[in-house]
Amino acid sequence: MGLCLTFIGPPGSGKGTQAKLLRDAGFLHVSSGDMLRAEIAAGTPRGRAIEGTVKRGELVSDAVLLDVVGSFLAQHVADNVVLDGYPRTVGQAEQLSHLKCGTAAALSAAVFFDIPDQVLLRRLGDRVIGPDGTIYDMQLHPPPPGLKVTRRADDDPEVHKRRLTTYRMEESALLAFYEKAGIAHHIQAALPLADVQAQVQALIAQLTHAAA
Ligand code: AP5
Repeated sequence: MGLCLTFIGPPGSGKGTQAKLLRDAGFLHVSSGDMLRAEIAAGTPRGRAIEGTVKRGELVSDAVLLDVVGSFLAQHVADNVVLDGYPRTVGQAEQLSHLKCGTAAALSAAVFFDIPDQVLLRRLGDRVIGPDGTIYDMQLHPPPPGLKVTRRADDDPEVHKRRLTTYRMEESALLAFYEKAGIAHHIQAALPLADVQAQVQALIAQLTHAAA
């Protein structure tokens, strides 16, 4: 039986960076933000309907998320799955408990990326994205010289603050939900990338051992 993890944390906490590292290690990476941005880029009716919400840094409705993430999970078979940025509300967490997530019988762990606000705001200000989706940090791990990079439409100082406020409003209820389920775990996300990765690997080893 495989693992189904969800990475929960504020914008800039490093969820996407760590989830992409797990993808390179064979996990199916399910990023709700990437899927919503793909709909917007493709100009689908749903993409047009949610574009303003995402640009403003507000939450897209639970119903849209259920449709987008639920249909993706139903169509993709994988032993190990990492959800990145989903769920973000208790409503979404309840919906997720009815979805199939790889071969896991149920969500294995809700992994909270704990990090102070000032660290996030520095990271978001320095984030750029490569043409293949690679995430770079202009200070700590900059892109190779000459690579054409872009910034996300919601990477703007005012929108960062709104996204952070939105996250903090939902965080304690979501944490209480997963503490009650006995599957909440914490990662110290302000540490250097390799140290955060080591914590994720240690948790996966622990969960794999417990499931064996
Ligand atoms: P989404 O794309 O999920 O954005 P987010 O949650 O705001 O998170 P980010 O992607 O900004 O940050 P991250 O934690 O992945 O950090 P990253 O690894 O990039 O969602 C975007 C929008 O879509 C939402 O605002 C909402 O509108 C909508 N949406 C999405 N999901 C939704 C849902 N479930 N419900 C409703 N609406 C939804 O790292 C950031 C930077 O830090 C990078 O430059 C990176 O290189 C650097 N970095 C990472 N780790 C470290 C480290 N350890 N040390 C130093 N630097 C690091």
